Amino acid sequence: MDYSRCRAVFGTLAIVSLSLSCLSASCFSQRQKHAEAERLWMNKNLSADERADLAMKEMTLDEKIQLLHGNGMPMFDPLTPVTALSNRGGGYGIGIPRLGIPALDMCDAAYGVRGSAQNGRYSTALPADVALAASWDTAAAFEYGALIGRELRAQGYNMSLGGGVDITREPRDGRTFEYLGEDPVLAGTIVARLVAGVQSQHIIGDIKHYAFNDQESGRGWVNVNIGERAARESDLLAFEIGVEQGHPDAVMCAYNRVNGVFSCENNYLLNEVLKKDWKFPGFVLSDWGGTHSLEKASAAGLDHEEGESFFYGERYKAAVESGKISMPELDEHVHRILRSMFAAGVIDYPQWRSVVDPFAGREVALKIEEDSIVLLKNDRAALPLDAAKIHTIAVIGAHSDAGMISGGGSAQVDPPGEKAFIASPEAPTPPNVEVWFPTSPLKAIEARAPHAIVKYDSGADPAAAAAMAKGADVAIVFAYQFESEGSDLPNLSLPGNQDDLVARVAAANPHTIVVLETGSPVTMPWVKAPAAIVEAWYAGSDGANAVGNVLFGTVNPSGKLPNTFPESEADLPHPTLVKPPPESRHFSGHVSPLQEAKGLPPFQVDYTEGAEVGYKWYDAQKKLVLFPFGYGLSYTSYGYSGLSVAPGKTIKATFTVANTGARAGAEIAEVYASLPASAQEPPKRLVGWSKVQLNSGEKRTVTVEIDPKYLSIFDVQKDEWTLVPGDYTILVGGSSQDLPLKAVVSLR
Ligand code: BGC
Repeated sequence: MDYSRCRAVFGTLAIVSLSLSCLSASCFSQRQKHAEAERLWMNKNLSADERADLAMKEMTLDEKIQLLHGNGMPMFDPLTPVTALSNRGGGYGIGIPRLGIPALDMCDAAYGVRGSAQNGRYSTALPADVALAASWDTAAAFEYGALIGRELRAQGYNMSLGGGVDITREPRDGRTFEYLGEDPVLAGTIVARLVAGVQSQHIIGDIKHYAFNDQESGRGWVNVNIGERAARESDLLAFEIGVEQGHPDAVMCAYNRVNGVFSCENNYLLNEVLKKDWKFPGFVLSDWGGTHSLEKASAAGLDHEEGESFFYGERYKAAVESGKISMPELDEHVHRILRSMFAAGVIDYPQWRSVVDPFAGREVALKIEEDSIVLLKNDRAALPLDAAKIHTIAVIGAHSDAGMISGGGSAQVDPPGEKAFIASPEAPTPPNVEVWFPTSPLKAIEARAPHAIVKYDSGADPAAAAAMAKGADVAIVFAYQFESEGSDLPNLSLPGNQDDLVARVAAANPHTIVVLETGSPVTMPWVKAPAAIVEAWYAGSDGANAVGNVLFGTVNPSGKLPNTFPESEADLPHPTLVKPPPESRHFSGHVSPLQEAKGLPPFQVDYTEGAEVGYKWYDAQKKLVLFPFGYGLSYTSYGYSGLSVAPGKTIKATFTVANTGARAGAEIAEVYASLPASAQEPPKRLVGWSKVQLNSGEKRTVTVEIDPKYLSIFDVQKDEWTLVPGDYTILVGGSSQDLPLKAVVSLR
């Protein structure tokens, strides 16, 4: 049933019941006015906290309990009388119409609104989150979130389940595309702007999966072990920045255990760190089926159970009635949920379905993809292509005649224009289905080289593809790696015959360009062979045009890697991914409370690398990498000069960036710090950056303010961030391994 009709029905029922006790028209309108006046929580001049308390005072025990849990996954489960009113998203919490409290209508929205087809098709597929991180563009992150928020609203939802910010500790993680890279400062800053964008549309935004859901293998029962200082300085720092700068109204706790305790009943993570240290005022909801206890989870700070009500429904009510859980403890959870609803504006701006504007969305998706593409290699200025000089182009591989790959699982977006096709040779059931978006690189190339003969080869037979490439002026090989929630990559190789394909085509044609569509880094045994390599990620609704614009130079690439590309898996902190023991491998997803009750023994993953994640690990271990964190080329060149560092409340690094080439471009100027040796930290860490737009020959002096926290260590004894007295080296440049400017500042 249509939600607006339901509201009308509810309204009618309310009028009928009032009319029974008050039959005259004037008596009725007096009562109505009285009721409005009595709804003190509707006063927008009060704070969200005050409004939550006022509303809560009116609530019965049953109504309070109702707010604490989901009611199945309306998207997949059969509709019940309760979920009949839902919008058929990932989760649904019943509202309290008599008090004007709407239902919580939740939808996954990592790189766009999931499963939008339920309601009227046409959600925009943005480039994957990892691509957004590659833009290092905070304004783009806000726009990305605002578009998601707008489209959620148009689809009739009022809560987003996006905002993945687990850092890329394990690049084979099947959700790497949904996250924001390996650095906590980059990931935290980007997720904060993204969530602020979502919430600007009066949608409850969340960040997830708190915390350390860094691999999918056995995610429901893995126990990750990590020391407190390392935890605070790595994965938790990304969440800390996200919470403090983005002010999300919800945080989703993860499936896995951390140091022996499930995330969703982990007092250290939820109460001590998130709610106390970071002063998070919103509510914590469990990942779907990630609640494992009642009293323990409630006392530890879990506010809301999704997707069911196994613990937080009747059992919770009985625990309150028997005194096992106190009323103030219940009220604390209810307060947080209501407070978030007021703070986000979902009560003041009720949901109303409208129509998504797919054209505006496509434009945003195109612009962000153009901002995100990373040029990894460009020998002899092979790119950009000059259409006037090219007579024949061979386009090869990755279904580039039809579409571009997208990331799967609960992040999956159903794009406008139908899927190009669905392929799932290995895993025919969701969520591991390959969905290809209908954005054809072949067509984009043909449009930009109208006078050239453009031929296509699927790449199924590398020898045939190489033969076709041999006769062409340029060969463009598209190569992909698909990933999805629920499983990890077996390794970092391009799947199937693609390594062989690239090697053979590049051997046949010296002007070979490789375009990668990947979520994680890939190894490249053929790296020396092609003239150019472009990382296009999962490129979204209009990815092919963005790639076309970069290949033909309408757009000068400016993205930089948010993840290191290692030379081989042997160089990772864990060369072999730690998998669940064989007896429990048949569970591909989370452990339901019932399975948990039967008892699946945890298996251990020891994060012995601590805070040395990504480039911090390779730096500390002095390992060579294929392409370093923060790396990306341009069609122009940049020069850096004149670094000065001024200490103060924030430390200011001022320097000049010059565009020394012949084209306009945007340079991401990165600022790193080496801490005093006594801090015992990895050789350097990212502490800030600035994306600077420069015309050819233009110079600009920029100042990057460094938050002292980013220079600090987490002192476990003091339980706070602490600056270690000593000399700090500030390093500035265009990649984590190209830092020409250096200045030392003494901090005491
Ligand atoms: C995923 C979450 C998602 C939820 C609801 C879970 O399996 O881990 O990220 O939000 O499902 O779809």
